[in-house]
Amino acid sequence: DGDVYKYYSEGEWRSSTSGQSVAIVNPTTRKTAYKVQACTQEEVNKVIDAAKTAQKSWAKTPLWKRAELLHKAAAILKDNKAPIAECLTNEIAKPAKDSVTEAPDAKFLDLMKVVRSGDLVSYCAEEGVRILGEGKFLVSDSFPGNERTKYCLTSKMGFLDCSGDDPTGYWHASLPLQFKPNLISFDKIPLGVVLAIPPFNYPVNLAVSKIAPALIAGNSVVLKPPTQGAVSALHMVHCFHLAGFPKGLINCVTGKGSEIGDFLTMHPGVNCISFTGGDTGVAISKKAGMIPLQMELGGKDACIVLEDADLDLVAANIIKGGFSYSGQRCTAVKVVLVMESVADALVEKVNAKVAKLSVGRPEDDCDITPVVSESSANYIEGLVKDAKQKGAKFCQQYKRDGNLIWPLLLDNVRPDMRIAWEEPFGPVLPVIRISSVEEGIHHCNASNFGLQGCVFTRDINKAILIGDALETGTVQINSAPARGPDHFPFQGFKDSGIGSQGITNSINMMTKIKTTVINLP
Ligand code: G3H
Repeated sequence: DGDVYKYYSEGEWRSSTSGQSVAIVNPTTRKTAYKVQACTQEEVNKVIDAAKTAQKSWAKTPLWKRAELLHKAAAILKDNKAPIAECLTNEIAKPAKDSVTEAPDAKFLDLMKVVRSGDLVSYCAEEGVRILGEGKFLVSDSFPGNERTKYCLTSKMGFLDCSGDDPTGYWHASLPLQFKPNLISFDKIPLGVVLAIPPFNYPVNLAVSKIAPALIAGNSVVLKPPTQGAVSALHMVHCFHLAGFPKGLINCVTGKGSEIGDFLTMHPGVNCISFTGGDTGVAISKKAGMIPLQMELGGKDACIVLEDADLDLVAANIIKGGFSYSGQRCTAVKVVLVMESVADALVEKVNAKVAKLSVGRPEDDCDITPVVSESSANYIEGLVKDAKQKGAKFCQQYKRDGNLIWPLLLDNVRPDMRIAWEEPFGPVLPVIRISSVEEGIHHCNASNFGLQGCVFTRDINKAILIGDALETGTVQINSAPARGPDHFPFQGFKDSGIGSQGITNSINMMTKIKTTVINLP
């Protein structure tokens, strides 16, 4: 209907009966860029019912066929990187070059590292075939006190019905001759309907990082994209549509959080929630029922700099880690904890690089672009004002025009300032000078967050010890925090999340274990 993007349900693009839409505001122009359907609760019910039905036969679809469709979707995604990248620029002001990176077939600037979303989908297909294709055979007498009277058979696919013929001969060969199994047991069976909720900053990549593992493991998916980024996500869903997945297996609903947010996350038909975002995740985890949750909820990633660090390397990583996509990454460097003796030299090097950052429109490929919304810009400004009032040293002048905030390094930040603890999700980075490594570790561990941290030193022993002491899901040694490569485990401690992501962990998380024990006569 006109210029409102349709939602996707039961294999078809539909308009909502609500007759209402949700506007997506371009962060740069602050004008409406697109509109999406405001789905109703009734439509959500239908979507979940369809997902439930589709999942039943998908779970019986051979693994290689699932993988084949995923590879196809990955190829279509790669062919369609340009329109998706354009939407990302319009919806979330991601610089054009990074939009391509976030988009399916993107290459990083050095053209050596490759592809993200497309490769992620393909890797998932391959990893799924590997790990879900394995099986186990346990005997009871390996545990004290047991005779060999029980066999526990497990495979990772749950539909092998061996009543009658045993085409491979495997099960009959491995069991006593008189025993004729009629059902081979399994673990790692699919959960059912997976609700995927990605954040605005990676509406495509962090959607496929949930969708692909869910599908390869035999689940169906209901995607609820963020409002900013919804159209990019709908384009991505269209690629899965074109790949020919069964109707109802993948669905995408858009709408107002007030109408369908809680309704979706508390829906009894949802069997798993994979969420990336902010505080909303905490609320979701309190309201969700007894279902597996995978959550990544932001961070306050610290960069600890020791006296012997290579300061040029540190400065380059602070710029990349703190200011790429204007600091709007959960893994961004959000506080620098530097030893006093090298602080002046480091701040000088970082300032020299900050001065070179281009500031402006995402279409012009600027390094620093408008933050996602006016409320986000206001929040960042609140942190900056608080720091000013409490005596932080401004290395640059604070400057803002609409949602565009110029990069700012704040030196001499102290623990009584909000910015020492809160995540600005913007291009403003605090520097806290420390007099001992312990002080740095203490500050890092006093945070409610625990996503990643990084430590810069030439002394690998010290780096390992500091890494062990930091209460974060990952510690990077001599590099800025980052989620990728996407097959690495990725997890946050404390308020930064629940569970672990990364392709293998996500596939495993989106399955449940079941065993059947065969009792011998
Ligand atoms: O914003 C949260 C993302 O998981 C961060 O991913 O480290 O690849 O930017 P990234």
